[in-house]
Amino acid sequence: MNASSIKIRLMKADDFDAVVGIDAQLIQASRPEYYKMKFEKLFRSKDYLPASLVAEQEDGTVVGFVMGEIYMGEYGIFQEEATLDTIGVDPSYQHQGIGKQLMNEFMDHLRNVGVQKINTLVAWNNSKLIHFFSANQFSPSKTINLERSL
Ligand SMILES: CC(C)(COP(=O)(O)OP(=O)(O)OC[C@H]1O[C@@H](n2cnc3c(N)ncnc32)[C@H](O)[C@@H]1OP(=O)(O)O)[C@@H](O)C(=O)NCCC(=O)NCCS
Repeated sequence: MNASSIKIRLMKADDFDAVVGIDAQLIQASRPEYYKMKFEKLFRSKDYLPASLVAEQEDGTVVGFVMGEIYMGEYGIFQEEATLDTIGVDPSYQHQGIGKQLMNEFMDHLRNVGVQKINTLVAWNNSKLIHFFSANQFSPSKTINLERSL
């Protein structure tokens, strides 16, 4: 397999099983309910523009995905900021540039609808993922997440 044989396309509702399967390999747990909620929001809600992509092999096998949201404000006007919620590449296909391809196409897609900034959250101790985002021109934002246990 070489990265140029990978096609990036918009995610479809039919990609559900493939996305849940890749995510399960990445986090060693299956969370179909979480993705069911996300897919419903993406494909059924009128308030969000689907901004999710998959990476597909020539034979149609989905080997990676990126999911994000663009909130559509009143009157259907897109906000200038979007979120990147989840990115994942099948472990057998990592380190071949597929993550970068997904990221680049995701950026182009959002830029084309007027988005100017993308936010994402990464666990502070997930150094591999932080490294990946840094290599893809993300940097720490000026806001910090605060929390309090009850
Ligand atoms: C982060 C992630 C998406 C990256 O996917 P990927 O396809 O491996 O990404 P890339 O190949 O573009 O880049 C990864 C590394 O491979 C290297 N690479 C890219 N092309 C390469 C090639 N042809 N040969 C060798 N290495 C290459 C890149 O330089 C990069 O190295 P670095 O990390 O040292 O900078 C993937 O590791 C992943 O899915 N991680 C788990 C994320 C997760 O937990 N998601 C679920 C909850 S959000």
